[in-house]
Amino acid sequence: MATTSEHSAAAGDLRQFLKELEDENDLLVIKEEVDPAMELAAITRRVYETEEKAPLFENIKGRQGDGLFRVLGAPVGLSRVPGQRLGRIAKSLGLPSTASGKEIIDKINSARGLQPLDPTKVATGPVKEHKLFNDDIDLTTLPTPLLHQHDGGKFIETFGMHIVQTPDGSWTNWSITRAMTHDKRHLVGPIIPKQDIGVIYQMWKDKGQDMPWALCFGVPPAAIMVGGMPIPKGVDEAGFIGALVGKPVDVVKCETNDIRVPANAEIVFEGTVSISETAPEGPMMEYHGHVWPGQSKQCPLFKVNAITYRTDPILPICITGRATEESHTLWALTIAAEVLHLCQSAGLPIQMAWCPFESHAIWYVIQVDRQKLRALKTNMADFCTKLGHVVFGSKPGWYMGKVFLVGEDVDPTNLRDVIWAESTRCEPGTSEFLFDEYGNIPLIPYVGHGVKPERNHKKVVKCCMLPCEFEDEELAWKVGSFRGSYPADVQALVERKWEEYGFQSV
Ligand SMILES: Cc1cc2nc3c(=O)[nH]c(=O)nc-3n(C[C@H](O)[C@H](O)[C@H](O)COP(=O)(O)O)c2cc1C
Repeated sequence: MATTSEHSAAAGDLRQFLKELEDENDLLVIKEEVDPAMELAAITRRVYETEEKAPLFENIKGRQGDGLFRVLGAPVGLSRVPGQRLGRIAKSLGLPSTASGKEIIDKINSARGLQPLDPTKVATGPVKEHKLFNDDIDLTTLPTPLLHQHDGGKFIETFGMHIVQTPDGSWTNWSITRAMTHDKRHLVGPIIPKQDIGVIYQMWKDKGQDMPWALCFGVPPAAIMVGGMPIPKGVDEAGFIGALVGKPVDVVKCETNDIRVPANAEIVFEGTVSISETAPEGPMMEYHGHVWPGQSKQCPLFKVNAITYRTDPILPICITGRATEESHTLWALTIAAEVLHLCQSAGLPIQMAWCPFESHAIWYVIQVDRQKLRALKTNMADFCTKLGHVVFGSKPGWYMGKVFLVGEDVDPTNLRDVIWAESTRCEPGTSEFLFDEYGNIPLIPYVGHGVKPERNHKKVVKCCMLPCEFEDEELAWKVGSFRGSYPADVQALVERKWEEYGFQSV
């Protein structure tokens, strides 16, 4: 049995993470040559859809020797290993691979009560083993995979972490946002003004200077988890990650600017983001499983002035599309954790939040603590209205379309439970509370491509609880199920004799 610090080691180091996945039979090292012109991506997509082992591609057509790069697919996909479906998420956070959804959400939020552990500055690290500068860099010669046939280009950045800093150096943001190869020395990618990278980019624009930048691939698994999490503006992800893992992240200075990057990252691109030059970008298949071919947008250019990398480096990738990929296992779950924290900070009696993977980061299931709810002496309309303002008015609320409020008898991580509660207890109209004062991320298909509203597209709180659940101490109903419809001794008898009857063990 591994100790807690052994679990943290995988969260702090991608190579340790991969070694443990291999030991647990959840990694497949593919030595056969694979074509980056879609074969690699198609394999990875099938891996997500079959919940197969994470593929590590070692022999990519066009790769030169021991240099750039091997590719890791589905780094935080779901797992087929029995009892470890959420194992890669759990391991990324320093938990045992058998952790439950609730343990994962609680672990993310446990870092909030702790003192942030600022990164430790070190002189050098594995990421400095190899260095390329200026005209020695040619991004177009790298074996970058084409991820989907309708993408507008080759997206090298789908699971790396951008690092940018405010001009006064007081706030450093680590975050994931996609980028596509543009030419020998440039990437191109969207910078959304609502996101922290966009807020910092605007500060550099106001100053009239290109933004110093680094993009780090193969960072500690806990770092990429938090890089995809909407933590409050002004908070450094690095300190949060240190608290989460129980150890500061070692960081080393870039060669060409003052940004510090994780010393054990696999590959780092460093340079600047132009405040004036743009180029067409996209489209790229999105996290909700739709793409509108041919629709590109002008986006800022990212100039690469240096690349540093480890020997035999690894590029992790995410092949976005229908569930379940990292947009769902990482982004949506960290949104759920953030929302749980925001509800609790607002004094709401909420004990768990989750995003069913199948909802593609759009549904959030929020579970009440009924004893505390009853003590509030509130009712469905007042409570759901308050909840909606707290949730939808928040930073992560912009990404969230639909909230399902459930009682304690419904497990938010069990979609069957959620559908049962919604269909049986949520009355169309009466138990649904609409909000149109808050905007929505336009990427949601019904927002970007739906009927144009008078004001904003609506969001909804669906109350999947009956009015009596706000008042009664004991629920008056009983549940029709194996657990609900039979006394404990009958359940135990049937379980004991299950295989004797001729059934397979459960
Ligand atoms: C695999 C993955 C890919 C992502 N890609 C993008 C992206 O291309 N554009 C984007 O705006 N956000 C993307 N995100 C979400 C952001 O990383 C997330 O909203 C993050 O909280 C933004 O950083 P901030 O909290 O610093 O604003 C992605 C998240 C994940 C997990």
